[in-house]
Amino acid sequence: ILISGLLTIVAYLFGSIPTGYLAGRYLKGIDIREHGSGSTGATNVLRTLGKGAGIAVLLIDLLKGAIAVALVDLFYAVYPTEILPANWQPWLIVATGLAAIFGHSKSIFLNFSGGKSVATGLGILLVMNPVVALGALASFLIVLALSRIVSLSSIGSAIAVNILMIFLKQPLPYILFAAIAGIYVIVRHRSNISRLLAGTEPRIGQKLQEEA
Ligand code: G3P
Repeated sequence: ILISGLLTIVAYLFGSIPTGYLAGRYLKGIDIREHGSGSTGATNVLRTLGKGAGIAVLLIDLLKGAIAVALVDLFYAVYPTEILPANWQPWLIVATGLAAIFGHSKSIFLNFSGGKSVATGLGILLVMNPVVALGALASFLIVLALSRIVSLSSIGSAIAVNILMIFLKQPLPYILFAAIAGIYVIVRHRSNISRLLAGTEPRIGQKLQEEA
């Protein structure tokens, strides 16, 4: 129990690493939370700081999620079943995954603010099940190509992950992960959903209306 708790706390701290915020601070001397959508995610970094920073933050946020859960696999590789029961592994992957997702959007280093956990979520899925991850990425890219709206693509992927998990007959813990993480990510997109309904959600390359 102690080790599981520690791994989950480490995952939360990994998720909390405020990549987007640091990019704003050091590249432009701004608080990214006061610009664009106010999110510290890669989309808002792209919007506010440009392509290079956006891609870098996307990759680092993705890695954060992947490492947070990969640590569980690493632990089991080093101590196979000696310390933690083997059947805890998928549950621990789920716990660390949710902790990293939560950390990214409620960072301990940013007064519990942050991003919307899409990139971090993708990183977690890559470790959990690369086929589901690639399916989610494909769904994201298709919706993005059609709509040019990142938030809509993210929401679509959150739903696609749930469908894929069930369709590919994944273990129960992973199906539960997809449900909880999916709902959480969609709830984090509340303001985007209001803008989508009002028809004011910016397409890629456009500014948010309130600051245009
Ligand atoms: O991944 C976050 C994206 O779906 C929306 O970001 O900054 O447009 O709210 P943003």
